[in-house]
Amino acid sequence: MSVSYQAVGWNRTKKVYDSLLAGGLLLYLGIFVGIGSVVHPNATAETLLIRGLGTAALLLLHVILCIGPLCRLDRRFLPLLYNRRHLGVTMFVLALAHGTFSLVQFHALGNVNPLVSLFVSNTRYASLADFPFQALGFFALVILFLMAATSHDFWLHNLTAAVWKRLHMLVYLAYGLLVAHVTLGALQSETSTLLAILLGAGLIVVTALHIMSAVVERRNDVARGPEADGYVSVCGVEQIPEKRACVVTCGGERVAVFRYDGKISAMSNVCQHQNGPLGEGKIIDGCVTCPWHGYQYLPDSGASPPPFTEKVPTYRTRVVGSHVYIHPSPLPPGTRVEPSRIVDESKVVNHAQ
Ligand code: HEM
Ligand code: FES
Repeated sequence: MSVSYQAVGWNRTKKVYDSLLAGGLLLYLGIFVGIGSVVHPNATAETLLIRGLGTAALLLLHVILCIGPLCRLDRRFLPLLYNRRHLGVTMFVLALAHGTFSLVQFHALGNVNPLVSLFVSNTRYASLADFPFQALGFFALVILFLMAATSHDFWLHNLTAAVWKRLHMLVYLAYGLLVAHVTLGALQSETSTLLAILLGAGLIVVTALHIMSAVVERRNDVARGPEADGYVSVCGVEQIPEKRACVVTCGGERVAVFRYDGKISAMSNVCQHQNGPLGEGKIIDGCVTCPWHGYQYLPDSGASPPPFTEKVPTYRTRVVGSHVYIHPSPLPPGTRVEPSRIVDESKVVNHAQ
């Protein structure tokens, strides 16, 4: 972690970003209810608000899901990534308002508890046409709640980065549930062609961006074959810009191979904070600096400089001529490895531990 790192930096950019988000959502809801009352004159204000909140939440969810792959395809999207948590919590608040208003509107008037009514008022689970789609929305909302509630760094540290990451991957399950919620519910009853087209387009965009970023990452992984003593060839020295890294897949793990001051060091690509891609960061003040929130690690040991205690696994490296090799077995987090030196191309130097 960088000494200057602040978990929540309420700087001007962040305030402008949040104000734009709040203003944009209010504008969206205003336009949605305004146009809705003209197109559907019989719909009540509550119904329009329920639909406006639901579509706004789903729209934000699409944006959130696209940010990750967009950043892998083009670094200029990275500023969006830094604020993704605010988007996530805002999306949950919108979804919660939609779900709560729906419960009040459709389940609060009988003598059964609205949450019980949600599951017992329609039990035609075997029917596609009459499927109780609201239950799908409820389960998606539970996942979104878990994600929003654990979004603070406090939970990240207590749950560990791996568990936190697994929990937050449930967003894809929530997305699937919501596509089914809208398709089976609103689309069937309302047969809104526009919503059907938008939902289909959203699904295609989210899927295509994920596939494209995976293909680009795979293509960037240099073809490697096993060498005599277990080291594998990963890239040419000239492929790594000074104070930056080349990210390769080795032994099934993504490894960031850094070049700095005539030396080569390799460490896990996964930041201990929120699994940010260290290989997309730079070496600043002698430390590998995560591009997401600025956590820092010493390039030779993978350990954060004192007083911080984060550590990532390191890898043994070797430079032969102008080619870089690494040993695919990761060393325990924080293990120092003497950096390999880049020397005259005709010489062979092995500085592996
Ligand atoms: C307890 C949870 C939920 C309940 C009870 C619920 C209930 C409903 C109901 C009754 C409708 C039909 C509204 C109408 O056509 O008038 C609907 C539609 C919809 N819901 Fe939900 N929902 C829940 C969760 C969610 C969540 C978490 C999201 C998104 C993040 C969501 C997004 C939508 C969308 C986009 C529509 C279509 C709106 C339209 O027809 O324009 N819902 N939901
Ligand atoms: S600093 Fe947050 S993920 Fe690396």
